Order: sequence, then structure tokens, then C-alpha cells
Amino acid sequence: MRTFRIVGAAALFMFSTGVLQAQTGEQQKMKTFIDGLMKKMTIDEKIGQLNLVVGGEATTGSVVSTDVDTKIRKGQVGGIFSVTSPGRIRKIQELAVNQSRLKIPIIFGLDVIHGYKTIFPIPLGLASTWDMNLIEQSARIAAQEASADGLNWTFSPMVDVSRDPRWGRISEGSGEDPYLGSVIAKAMVRGYQGKSLADNNTIMACVKHFALYGAAEAGRDYNTTDMSRVRMYNDYLPPYKAAIDAGVGSVMSSFNEIDGIPATANKWLLTDVLRKQWGFKGMVVSDYTSVNEMIDHGMGDLQQVSALALKAGLDMDMVGEGFLTTLKKSLNEGKVTVADIDRACRMVLEAKYKLGLFEDPYRYCDENRARTEIFNEANRRKAREIAAKSFVLLKNQQQVLPLQKKGTIALVGPLANAKENMVGTWSVAADVTKPISLLAGLKEVLGANGKVLYAKGANVTEDSLLEVRTSIFGKPFERDNRPADVMIREALAAAEQADVVVAALGELAEMTGEASSRSDLTLPQSQVNLLQALVKTGKPVVVVLFTGRPLAIPDVDKIAPAILNVWFGGSEAGHAIADVLFGDINPSGKLTATFPMNVGQVPIYYSHKNTGRPLNGQWFQKFRSNYLDVPNEPLYPFGYGLSYTTFTYGDLKLSSQSLKGNQRLTASITVTNTGKYAGEEVVQLYIRDVVGTNTRPLKELKGFQKISLQPGESRQVSFTITPEDLKFYNHELKYDWEAGDFTIFIGGNARDLKSGQVNWQK
Ligand code: BGC
Repeated sequence: MRTFRIVGAAALFMFSTGVLQAQTGEQQKMKTFIDGLMKKMTIDEKIGQLNLVVGGEATTGSVVSTDVDTKIRKGQVGGIFSVTSPGRIRKIQELAVNQSRLKIPIIFGLDVIHGYKTIFPIPLGLASTWDMNLIEQSARIAAQEASADGLNWTFSPMVDVSRDPRWGRISEGSGEDPYLGSVIAKAMVRGYQGKSLADNNTIMACVKHFALYGAAEAGRDYNTTDMSRVRMYNDYLPPYKAAIDAGVGSVMSSFNEIDGIPATANKWLLTDVLRKQWGFKGMVVSDYTSVNEMIDHGMGDLQQVSALALKAGLDMDMVGEGFLTTLKKSLNEGKVTVADIDRACRMVLEAKYKLGLFEDPYRYCDENRARTEIFNEANRRKAREIAAKSFVLLKNQQQVLPLQKKGTIALVGPLANAKENMVGTWSVAADVTKPISLLAGLKEVLGANGKVLYAKGANVTEDSLLEVRTSIFGKPFERDNRPADVMIREALAAAEQADVVVAALGELAEMTGEASSRSDLTLPQSQVNLLQALVKTGKPVVVVLFTGRPLAIPDVDKIAPAILNVWFGGSEAGHAIADVLFGDINPSGKLTATFPMNVGQVPIYYSHKNTGRPLNGQWFQKFRSNYLDVPNEPLYPFGYGLSYTTFTYGDLKLSSQSLKGNQRLTASITVTNTGKYAGEEVVQLYIRDVVGTNTRPLKELKGFQKISLQPGESRQVSFTITPEDLKFYNHELKYDWEAGDFTIFIGGNARDLKSGQVNWQK
């Protein structure tokens, strides 16, 4: 055994030195190639590589690029995004390779955020699976499909931690937690980039929006962020760093300012943190016109802001052409240097090199692949499975769910027959005629066993202007112009004939996403009225809640016996919801962002501090940290989600109560499936550092395991804890752990936990 170990270690050493040598050899080869190419390039051609234009096949911003073909011929374009047809991609590449002087291939990007043509749940839903394997597979399939259409770069993963559901883009990220956000970031990067960027079925990922975009003040999009470095390093930066550690090829700067300087020209952020502290070696791209927007931020004119961005460490300018039109002038005036331009140009060329584009500019243009690998049966099956696992059962009184596959079901509500909305926000390549609506899915899964009666019952909102504002991404919504009471009466008539009512309520897809912040997080009144009327019939009512954010719905929780939160489940949403409603799949999703009681509690998150005047259990106490009109507790906490079965947690067992130095602690708990169904449970580990030189959160997620248990089955779940798990950034930004007492918690959500104490000395 001993000999084997030594041999094993030696072999491992030789192997890793071999890998290292091969890597350095590869890097040397790349450097030699790019040195050679850059020697031939004029300053204009170098600046041209920094220009990222938009192709206009998918709308993601209000400015569009002009004269793209001419610019490509002149070598004034480094990359293009939002072109999604393989034919057009090949033509553009031909232009660059055959008609520009140096024949430098173009890089093709797109917002492939939660799937390409086969759409998976919105990222907040994907996160709710707590299943890294499935999340990675969704990114793998997205990359496979996108690359089959000629794309090689995605603007994903979006890893902005957000604790403010008013912010529409909370739907695009993984929620409120830095630890969970970090493991998801890694899974996504692995999924997109695979083993090698040069493979023709992998694409380069771009972690965004660097940084702190999710902390926009008042949840208003693009708004100012301002926070302490301690909070930044502990709570907001980790997921970006995790993506860098996973080898992400590119980074996108965010729209917001940090410390009073917009991220896009923030040298501390883009150079000191990103490159010097974290060792990032890839390309940094701006967000859509975020260079130009610094004029409105008050940082100077276009020439000034472009120079600031370049010097701060930005390599590619998205859409705004500040770099293209002003950098040469700045060079001549000594405001930027050739070295600045060379650095940025090298980053862009290296990205193309790593993607294998210099070897074969058409390696992603294989129309045979496009025919067979996109939106195929296997991908749709996976989308259905993943969607079902993303749903979170919020309430299930008297086991209303699962439904029996028989009898009559009244399916009502404005989201019941709304296939265009199933894909959610940021699904720019989706064909919105293809998704499965809940009505179609329910009918199909029920088959001849029973009957579905459908009535719309209400419009999403009576505010028709809001509806218009939320339909810009081609997800139209047909407004029903009948009076509200007529629609409700029709729904009640269906309910009267039914054994059970399924009410498909919630938001439209584009009520979340970019520039879709809301100041009101309740269910619109038209839908509340419908729900109240349905509940009054005395029939069991199951709310299927479509949402891209945590909603404040205590009123719904109060009256509806069952609530299944289905986010926006993607192409197969309708099938997946039916699978879960009928119990073919037992729900196992858990929230990754807290659902508040009302908007006044926002920002709300589980890992908050104790304060000097915490509440002691009761709702209101004078001179304590609380509200007069609402408890401090959220409606549904982080990590929460029910199952059709029940799980019981035994006592927490700790391998030791007093530890020293690098010892390891094992925390174990026995989880038993005490219900009637097989099910999956996400067992969560939290730690509290009781006393520190800095105040520490009441608890922080440090691990989780998703387990599957048959009825009656018990399993011991163990976590190994090391001092690494106790580390944090203190007020001097020193990353270390401090000796003392720690509380270890394990349970099924951030509120309901078993706990124990340990003392850990250095
Ligand atoms: C968004 C980015 C997106 C980019 C390109 C911007 O408006 O903030 O997330 O990647 O557009 O579509």
C-alpha cells in the first residue's frame, strides 16, 4: 500500500509536470503566432479587433450597428453577436477571411443564457435544482446547439448575487448566496467550455456582469451600487472568482458604478482585482454601449471615456464604437499608449486562437450538425427533466398534490395557455411557437384518463400599458378584452364542473429580465380577484405560479391550499409541470432567493447579521430591530421547498466538539423519508462564526448534498468541515479564519435546522 502510494504520487507528479509542460508549450505556440500576426497589423487593424458589433437578428439593446459588412472588409470588426443563422454566420466569416487584409476570423457571440433553441428553465429556476450535474448538462446542451449554428461565444454565466427581487435581472442569476452561486458558476463554465475551447461543440463562456450589478440601489436596473469592500469580497465577488478559477475565457464588465467609477473604466476592478489578484488571462468585454454610457455617468466625452476604459483594462467595446472612433486620436494625443492597444488586441486574438478559429475559421459552421443537434428529442427530454426538477413546492395542504390522473380538471388563469411565455426572459434564439403550454402538457399527460376544461379567467394585469412594456422580446400576449367579471364567471363555470382547479397565475416572462424592475411584488389584482373567486367555490385550488423573481404573495399563501412555483420552465415547461402535478416526478427544488412578505422587507436574505438589537422570537419589541407592520421573517426562506413525501432530520452528530488547527470535523445527520413517495432532498450545511473581529452573518451556507430516498429509507449524510470553510475577509481584507466558537447547522432550509457547537483553536 505504502509503495503504491509513493509510486502513485511520483506518477502523478510526472503526469502533472508533463501536463504543465504541454500547457506552457501550447502557450508559447500561441504567443509566437500572435506576435507574428500583430507585427503585421496596423494600429487601425488592432483597434478594429476591439470592436464588437451587433448583428441585429435578436434585439438586446436600443443601439444597432451600421455598415457592418463594410467594416468587416476594412478589418474594423473583431466580433459580432446576435446573428443566429448558420448561413449568415458563414457569409460574415467569408467576408472577414476572404476580403479583409489580414484575414482574421470573426468571433460570433450570443446571449445563450439558459439554452439556445432548446430552452431550459430561467437561471433562477436552474439554480433551484441544486443539482450541479443537471446545470452543467444544460450548459453543455446549450453549447452543443449554439455551436452547431456557428456560434462560439456566449454571454453567460450571469453570476450577479442579488438580494433584491425588485431587480428584474434576479431571474438571470442564481439568487442570493455566494457559495451556491460559486458552485453553479463553475458548473456552467464546465458545461459551456468542455475540455477544450477548440472542440467544435464547445463555446467560450463570459462571466458577467463584473461586478456587483445585482446590488443596484432600490432594485432599479443600471442604478448605482455602493458597498463596503468587506461585503464585496465576502458576499458579491466569490461567484465571479469561481468562474475565473474554472477557466472562463472572458469577462463582461457591468453597467453600474463601483466606488464612484463605472465598472467599465474601473481599473481597480478590471486590472488590480481581476488580473493581478485573481490571475485572469482572458478577454474583458464591455456591456452593451457601457463605454458610451459613461458620458451620462459624468465621466467625460466619448474620447475620454473610451481611453479610460482601455486603460482600466477593458479589451473589447460592445456596440458603442467608442474604441473604434476615438482610440487612434487618443494615441496621437498621448492619452493611451500602443502598449494599451496591443494588450487589448492580444486578448481578443488569443480568444480566437483558443477557439481554434485561426486553424479553421469555419469549424463551427457545419450545417449538418445544425440539422440534427438542435432542438432534438434528446435535448427536449433533458429540458423536461431539468424543468421538473427546478419547480419548488411552496405549499401543499392536505396533500392536494399530486393530482390523480382521472376526473375533470379546470385549468384557468392567464398563464395556462401562454406558450410564448414559457421560455422566460433571455431566450433570444428560441422559436416561441414551439414551447409546450401548460394546457397542452396537461392534456397530453392526462390523455384519455380524464378531462381538462380551460378558461383564461383573467388577464395578467388590468394595466394594459404594463403588458405592452413587457412584450419587447417577441413574446406577445393576447389581451382578452372581455370585462373582468365575464372572464371570472367563465372560469367559475369550469370550476363548478371540475374535481380540482389548477390556476396558472403569475408574471409574464418579460416582467423580469433586463430593464424589467418592479416596485410592487404582489400578484396583480386581476389575478387575485380570480383566485379569490375560485377558492370560494370550495373546490381544491392548486396555484401554478409562473415567476422570474421572488414574489410577495402572503395573500395567495393564505387562501390557496397548494402552490407550485414553476418559474419559466423553458421549451418543455407544460410537460414538466404536468409531470409534477400528477406525481410522475416528485418536486425537489429549493429556493435560492428569499420570498419576502412584502416589498418593504427588501433587501432580504438569510445570511444577515444579528445587529446589536436582535428580536428574541416575538414579532414586535420596542427598541429592537424590526418593523411595526410586518414580521422580520420572510414568507419562504432560502433553501425552502416541499416534497410530496416528508423528510425527518435526526439529531446532528459532530465528530468532536473541540478542534485544533487543520483538524477535520465531520458533521452528520440521519435523514428519513417518512412519507409515501420516493423523493429527493437537498440537505444543507450552514455555519455561524459566533465571535469574530468582524461581525459575522447569523449563518452561511457551506455545503449541500442532494439525496434520494425511498419511502421509509434513512440515510446518514455527512459533511467534512475544515478551517477552509471558516475563512472570511476581515476589515483589512485578510482572508483567514479566527479561532473560537462555531455553530454548525444542518437541515432542509435556512430556517428549519438542527444545530451543535464546536470550539476550534489555531
Ligand atoms: C446585457 C448583457 C447582454 C448584452 C448583449 C446587455 O444589455 O446587459 O447581459 O449580454 O446586452 O446582448
